[in-house]
Amino acid sequence: MRTEQPKMIYLKDYQAPDYLIDETHLTFELFEDHTLVHAQLVMRRNPAAGAGLPPLVLDGQLLELLSVQLDDRVLSSNDYQIDDSHLTLHPGSEHFSVDTSVKIHPETNTALEGLYKSGSMFCTQCEAEGFRKITYYLDRPDVMSKFTTTVIAEQHRYPVLLSNGNPVGNGPQDDGRHWATWEDPFMKPAYLFALVAGDLWCVEDSFATMSGRNVALRIYVEPENIDKCQHAMNSLKKSMRWDEEVYGREYDLDIFMIVAVNDFNMGAMENKGLNIFNSSAVLARAETATDAAHQRVEAIVAHEYFHNWSGNRVTCRDWFQLSLKEGFTVFRDAGFSADMNSATVKRIQDVAYLRTHQFAEDAGPMAHAVRPDSFIEISNFYTLTVYEKGSEVVGMIHTLLGAEGFRKGSDLYFQRHDGQAVTCDDFVKAMEDANGVDFSQFKRWYSQAGTPRLAVSESYDASARTYSLTFRQSCPQTPDKQEKLPFVIPVEIGLLDAQGAEIALQLTGEVAAGATSRVLSVTEAEQTFTFVGIAAKPLPSLLRGFSAPVKLSFPYDRDQLMFLMQHDSDGFNRWDAGQQLSVQVLQELIAQHQKGETLVLDPRLVTALRSVLGNEQLDQAMVAEMLSLPGEAYLTEISEVADVEAIHTAREFVRRQLAEQLFDGLWQRYQANRAVSKTTVYVAENEHFARRALQNIALSYLMLSGKPEVLAATLEQFESADNMTERLTALAVLVNSPFEAEKALALASFAEHFKDNPLVMDQWFSVQAGSPLPGGLQRVKALMEHPAFTIKNPNKVRALIGAFAGQNLINFHAADGSGYRFLADLVIQLNALNPQIASRQLAPLTRWRKYDDARQALMKAELERIRGSGELSADVYEVVSKSLA
Ligand code: TRP
Ligand code: ZN
Repeated sequence: MRTEQPKMIYLKDYQAPDYLIDETHLTFELFEDHTLVHAQLVMRRNPAAGAGLPPLVLDGQLLELLSVQLDDRVLSSNDYQIDDSHLTLHPGSEHFSVDTSVKIHPETNTALEGLYKSGSMFCTQCEAEGFRKITYYLDRPDVMSKFTTTVIAEQHRYPVLLSNGNPVGNGPQDDGRHWATWEDPFMKPAYLFALVAGDLWCVEDSFATMSGRNVALRIYVEPENIDKCQHAMNSLKKSMRWDEEVYGREYDLDIFMIVAVNDFNMGAMENKGLNIFNSSAVLARAETATDAAHQRVEAIVAHEYFHNWSGNRVTCRDWFQLSLKEGFTVFRDAGFSADMNSATVKRIQDVAYLRTHQFAEDAGPMAHAVRPDSFIEISNFYTLTVYEKGSEVVGMIHTLLGAEGFRKGSDLYFQRHDGQAVTCDDFVKAMEDANGVDFSQFKRWYSQAGTPRLAVSESYDASARTYSLTFRQSCPQTPDKQEKLPFVIPVEIGLLDAQGAEIALQLTGEVAAGATSRVLSVTEAEQTFTFVGIAAKPLPSLLRGFSAPVKLSFPYDRDQLMFLMQHDSDGFNRWDAGQQLSVQVLQELIAQHQKGETLVLDPRLVTALRSVLGNEQLDQAMVAEMLSLPGEAYLTEISEVADVEAIHTAREFVRRQLAEQLFDGLWQRYQANRAVSKTTVYVAENEHFARRALQNIALSYLMLSGKPEVLAATLEQFESADNMTERLTALAVLVNSPFEAEKALALASFAEHFKDNPLVMDQWFSVQAGSPLPGGLQRVKALMEHPAFTIKNPNKVRALIGAFAGQNLINFHAADGSGYRFLADLVIQLNALNPQIASRQLAPLTRWRKYDDARQALMKAELERIRGSGELSADVYEVVSKSLA
């Protein structure tokens, strides 16, 4: 909690640290009502920071200082200055050591940052600036140190004591307590420090690295979860192999540990050798976790493992460079998931997510560049822009250089900067140097916020047999900047002839026709590319694979989109053509609803989807994706002023029409797939994910028909499925149906069966919180009283409140403002408990500019109320004040 107005920090003010910490020796004495932390810091003046001996300003928050010593001298209170975030000392020489002892209170730490308790175990979360809540330190990523950590705790309650690196000793004490010492041979910044103490069991395995070293792998969980670790372990071994094969990166310690904790602000954390995970990102088995949860576990295990190189061995100079590790690591984990599953489906899901949520962020009051140039609270910048758009930026470098050139660049980056804390510029420089290219214009992607628009027009000259595409790029202004300079936009394209065949592409000036798909670099505000030897006017396939994070527009008519859905050789663009067709149809219906007209569905959408549904050759997961209409949140994002009610009505209308008109096809594919599911044991692999995906989307359409045979099938699937993917879909379908008795029974039996499994109960909360049926807020309020709910657990808050405000748009945006009032009350309550979660839950209110005047006023009033509610955390203060600016 702040005592002064939080202040803005600027990238341009970066200065190298005055002092360095060569060694860090920590001793933790864990007790039930406090913890003692003894730190010995072996320090020296930073030769790169100038002359003289400036004061040493250590970061520290919520610490009770018990003693401080400079070399051998115990300091008295007039030898140092202390305030609520710093301890200032006055070193008398260039080399010295600082010893401190502090008392902290993990047992009452509800912010889940620093050292805290999750249930009966102790754990840490230090990124970004949590280490300063553990001990006085230079808590910044460019101060790297060699850590030795001793943990002392009661043997009986905390048999397992872990920290980073290798175990170097342990033993009992005579007071019922025991100790363990860990030593991490790699220099690291404090944000990668971790400690765990608890009564944990572990699953063990091993991995032989490419150079033949043997690495012990351990996943630690609370005893009741020991049967849910195998999928994460398999994912870990696959990740380790993949990083060797694709990036040439080998693991570097003799042991790699993952610990699952129930109370965690984010997905997981890449602490050196000791990753700490939200239990939702580790635990998965057929009976309790859906296919999506299995895929999420695989991706997050990979993400954190990949950080060992992209983040830990090479880390960030300062937090403005966060995307250096996060954008790159998301790009790496996306490549891994694409290789493990269907690459096209992975791309579709990532792009749908980016367009819905990152584009909305880019258009809102918190818009910032991939490398922001200022912030108040860094925790607010673990965003879709830094992660997802950051990954797109790395992906564009990959597209521009090709796989081989990119690998040369990443090899040079890791080799050149191993052991260093560096910047996004250093990353790009390595890519440039390894390939002899100039990315100076490209780097605008790091500094300019906002989603570029790319308007494309065509012209065909029959007599010259030339076809031209003209690209016009622009970027809307964002709070940080008005004028934007042109980006380098790689646009992968193909041209289709009237039969749907791909044309070999030759630009004016080129000697011969080449590939049928190629990347055009759009670098000017307006730029024309002319293709020669084009016998008849073609149909362009633009931005294949979503080769740049832009909003591209081309005046396709609906017949052309249907043609692309059938013939485009690029799977992503076949899907995207379907999405564009759906958007056109939905926007027409939205307009009809607004004018009070009868809704009339363009039959071409039904025709197009009927042919997708009937195509047995197509990957079933692709069929499922193509049958999914653009979400309400996406339709909101692309609206000038979002009409919540019209969007919901139009989309539901189309869903019902599709259910009715495609009933036979849906029913046939549902039954075929359910029959296979019934006779196949659950396998967490691609082909099985695909079968269940189509089966489940088919069921959710079919139930809209209200037919008794569908209800019977849903109940059968709910009761006899051997896996959560089928069971949860059946439950969701019932929850959204008018069959009140069946719904109540299913909800009760599910809760009874899974009441002791918090992750399954999260899904039970989400399914209800997301239901668009009337009365959503009352349901959510009632569920908050359920014994399985607690506002102190971030997963519970996300499952219930996050799902309601983020996914249940029709209920959250109730015209009377009740949803907004509810969310604001919650944010005020969370602000005092857990600022990071409070600030994240606030996001839906920051989107007020998208709505009609009445809703805008209601949303702003709630933001004002939060602003005036008392002592705001820096996290909430920043989001609220920027939203109202
Ligand atoms: N570095 C983590 C990742 O892999 C992010 C993270 C985990 C985090 N816990 C956090 C960020 C707490 C801020 C606060 O993406
Ligand atoms: Zn990460």
